[in-house]
Amino acid sequence: MHVDRRKFFASVGGAAAVAAMGHEDRAEALEHYMTDRLDRRVGLAETAQASAELRVPRGTGNLYRPTAGGFEPMPDKPTLVDFFERRFAPARHVLQSANRAVETGQPERTVFACLLHDVTQNLIKADHGYWGAQLFAPYVDERVAWGIKYHQALRFYPDDAVGYEYPDMYNRIFGEDYEPDEYIRKDYEFARNHRHYMEARLITVNDQYAFDENQRRIGIEEFTDVIGRQFKQPREGLGYDNSPVAHMWRSIIDPNRPL
Ligand SMILES: [Fe+2]
Ligand SMILES: [Fe+2]
Repeated sequence: MHVDRRKFFASVGGAAAVAAMGHEDRAEALEHYMTDRLDRRVGLAETAQASAELRVPRGTGNLYRPTAGGFEPMPDKPTLVDFFERRFAPARHVLQSANRAVETGQPERTVFACLLHDVTQNLIKADHGYWGAQLFAPYVDERVAWGIKYHQALRFYPDDAVGYEYPDMYNRIFGEDYEPDEYIRKDYEFARNHRHYMEARLITVNDQYAFDENQRRIGIEEFTDVIGRQFKQPREGLGYDNSPVAHMWRSIIDPNRPL
């Protein structure tokens, strides 16, 4: 995807607004700009502009932003696929990531982690890797949650051994002196020496290629079997299983609830 620096800056409130952001926030803003563009293709600038005028915080996930349409009702016992179809859709970026992992022969666990890695952007954009890890932890292999958490830090750090380069785009958009925040650097160093390192690293490898506006439409149904094997779907439905994160799922089920 080509990112027009000027349009990206405009979408977040102009060059002064970008200059005032911390490094991590800038990177987050760019990733979300690209994800949104991929899903909507057009109209993002207007939406972002409208949000800016309404002073919606930039870290607000799409489900909590001004919307022209309502929310499709969820079934009584919602499954992960229901969330993909009714709350995360079109989710093209994560579907492309997962598809890329399939095409490059990655283990199923990595395919699954790629499928989930950014969906929390719909809930809250800031620190999406950390939110994602927590949202999924009770239902997935610990390595999947771990990978989702640390992909956020690892994207800034190259790893020649797996062909992951520092994204050229960060240089182009943010300049050569881009410095990840201190907590990101610390988490990277922790992850780099951890036995699960590759779980997160492989997400970043597939991430890079997953902003293709011209790629065929990939449906969540292509991953039904993977989800069936990798996701421990609670019988009561997500949000109603009394897990430590049930409230997070309920917030996604009905973003309109005032209390
Ligand atoms: Fe991400
Ligand atoms: Fe991503």
